[in-house]
Amino acid sequence: MDLILSIESSCDDSSIALTDINSLKVIKHLKLSQEKEHKKYGGVVPELASRLHAAALPKLLEKFKPYFKDIRAVAVTTEPGLSVSLHEGVIMAKAISSFLEIPIISVNHLKGHIYSTFIEKKATTPLLALLLSGGHTQIIKVNSYKDMEVLATTMDDSVGEAYDKVAKMLNLGYPGGPIIEKIAKKGDENRFNFPIPLQNSPKIAFSLSGLKNAVRLKIEELGGPNMSEQDKSDIAASFQKAILKHLLQKSKKIFQKEKIKDFVIVGGVAANRYINEGFKRLCKEFGKNMHQVKLEYTSDNAAMIGRWGVEAYKNKEFSKLEEIIPKATKKVSIGRL
Ligand code: KG4
Ligand code: ZN
Repeated sequence: MDLILSIESSCDDSSIALTDINSLKVIKHLKLSQEKEHKKYGGVVPELASRLHAAALPKLLEKFKPYFKDIRAVAVTTEPGLSVSLHEGVIMAKAISSFLEIPIISVNHLKGHIYSTFIEKKATTPLLALLLSGGHTQIIKVNSYKDMEVLATTMDDSVGEAYDKVAKMLNLGYPGGPIIEKIAKKGDENRFNFPIPLQNSPKIAFSLSGLKNAVRLKIEELGGPNMSEQDKSDIAASFQKAILKHLLQKSKKIFQKEKIKDFVIVGGVAANRYINEGFKRLCKEFGKNMHQVKLEYTSDNAAMIGRWGVEAYKNKEFSKLEEIIPKATKKVSIGRL
């Protein structure tokens, strides 16, 4: 077998995977989430994340030892993310590269998310990807594994961040996305008319901070997190409705211009059924083929890093050890990734 070992540690998930370079099969994929540990702080604490990665990654790697002789390259997330977290994966990858005398591949986490679309599948580009994660909200035109162009990005918060912040305001815990989605099912999405961001602006961009503030004011008006369960559900449902409308309105503008047939939502928020259903309708209207990332690969994972790594391996895109330095940039400005 010819395998790629991949490592992901950009935020609060420690993950290692093995991907078969020829068949694209994920041979092994392990992940330890730190959600529970960060929960009590209402968000990710970088120093704690780094310490937990330092403990988790060697434990996970133990389980991959039987495959060492078949590993042809090691792929590791180097950007963007929390620098102290990225660092833990990077030092492990460098050690493996030296010890096994195999090349090292530097992977951009966002490109990894996009390539989660093609886990265990042949890649089909061009592709339009809506990246919705905790740190990013972008529409990306994917011309090839390397050539990606950001067509729209958020001017302030990301969608995942907005979900997390609203959940925090309602005292519901972290991460907020799945909780808000769940309680929204019992809510009335028409009870509150939250403003749809940039509704009257020709800008093809996203913005979540105004909506977040409108939700904050409504929560205060209703007496804060002690409001009734029904009020919370109504807030969650109305908030989600505004987010979906915003995403659809701006995506529609891009769909009108870009004739690319294939579309996908990637990143943690891609797990959201309500958002997915909305985009299924939009894709149908525009005759687009909507790909679906397997649920286990929507949130951060090493399999997606390995999948992008396969493309880099086939193109002999390797880095020198000394060139691999984690880059902490959380936001990517408009331009090419
Ligand atoms: O991609 P991801 O795992 O990590 C980053 O790279 O940031 O995304 C995490 C984000 C969190 O903000 C989380 O609340 C959100 O994805 N999320 C969701 C859902 N599941 C996770 N947001 C909305 N609905 C969900 N079902
Ligand atoms: Zn991510």
